[in-house]
Amino acid sequence: MAISLREPILDWYAEHNRDLPWRRPEATPWGILVSEIMLQQTPVVRVLPVWTEWMERWPTPEALAAVAPGEAVRHWGRLGYPRRALNLHACARAITADHRGRVPSSYDELRTLPGIGDYTAAAVASFAYGHSHAILDTNVRRVLGRAVRGEEYPPKATTSGERRLAESLLPAVGAPRWGVAVMELGALVCTARAPRCDDCPIMSQCAWRLAGRPAHDGPVRRG
Ligand code: ADE
Repeated sequence: MAISLREPILDWYAEHNRDLPWRRPEATPWGILVSEIMLQQTPVVRVLPVWTEWMERWPTPEALAAVAPGEAVRHWGRLGYPRRALNLHACARAITADHRGRVPSSYDELRTLPGIGDYTAAAVASFAYGHSHAILDTNVRRVLGRAVRGEEYPPKATTSGERRLAESLLPAVGAPRWGVAVMELGALVCTARAPRCDDCPIMSQCAWRLAGRPAHDGPVRRG
């Protein structure tokens, strides 16, 4: 039954996706990596101008690696959690020194870079290189949690059950597009606080909605 989520979500995405520069075909792996780090704790609207400025200033890992770490922090703007700027700078230096200036394409190599966790490695391998990886960011976890498990909010930390579910839904082709489509549904419709179920392409199948949208009890990670 979960498989029938795919078509409506992909059709919805084709119509409603936001045109974001890091999703365009001309986006580089470096641009995608920078976007994923910036988007970890900051909304898209605040990331857009800073990402654009960073890409103009430092279009490659080598360009960023050549400046002092403080420069990265100085140009972080008001994105918050400025440690991420230092991590990106350290990534740029590691990519330059150990990967001949190319963002690595495999999940395992990406994981060795500073500040790159499971989500970011999967996202970069998938969105930049077209590999098939389950994308388990907070939006995806909330959508799948509601639609399939009937729970308003996902557990605090990702469980093996959530991972198995996300992996079971991966299409044989087009995994990157599927990942970003579910993410976008969570960002625009199946939002944490006021989900717009009437606009949802899978409302007729959503376990949480069919159960009457029961409130979550217990500790909540609203992320
Ligand atoms: N597109 C690709 N990755 C994204 C993310 N992490 N947040 C929002 N849009 C994205």
